[in-house]
Amino acid sequence: MRRVAILISGGGSNMSTLLDSMGEAGHPARPVLVLSNRPEAGGIARAAGRGVPTAVVDHRPFGGDRAAFEAELQRVLAGHGADIVCLAGFMRVLTPAFVEGWAGRMLNIHPSLLPKYRGLHTHARALEAGDTEHGCTVHEVTPELDDGPVLGQARVPVLPADVPETLAARVLTMEHRLYPAVLRRYAAGDRTPVFLP
Ligand code: GRF
Repeated sequence: MRRVAILISGGGSNMSTLLDSMGEAGHPARPVLVLSNRPEAGGIARAAGRGVPTAVVDHRPFGGDRAAFEAELQRVLAGHGADIVCLAGFMRVLTPAFVEGWAGRMLNIHPSLLPKYRGLHTHARALEAGDTEHGCTVHEVTPELDDGPVLGQARVPVLPADVPETLAARVLTMEHRLYPAVLRRYAAGDRTPVFLP
């Protein structure tokens, strides 16, 4: 049984769908920790309300010392016995050293069809480019930001009336289907990519 830690910075809607999925019969993983870098993240209360252990490692006291912040992250992750890390709206860039320590065991979901639109504001950029489709990607985390091997993608249409918020909402709905599907397969040792629809 794999032991999953989910890292968040905000509301945690992806985190919640991962918890739902791991509660299903026969799932090869279970949640051991939900961790946020922001004390006020709504996802912490959501996870605690479901009986999942939580932790906050606030990045601000560490100033620009990323290594010290990540050393504390690592201490908490190891303390809960995590062996897979799922980044789900975690808004801190991780150093190559930390990422390499989790090589092959750390996933992220990114709201674009990578390799298009690495980084932020992906929905606005897709609209700006006049794309007719958009989507989300689950990938293994490697030192290069938003760049690791693709483990799943989900596509949505871009509609003429779309603004970033409406497109983001359509993508988020697919994130909630894609991430659980990828984690279930990945935790079973199967790295065959998932494509939706
Ligand atoms: C999602 O849009 C995801 O693509 C990005 O951050 C957001 C997470 O939202 N990584 P939530 O906190 O899971 O609701």
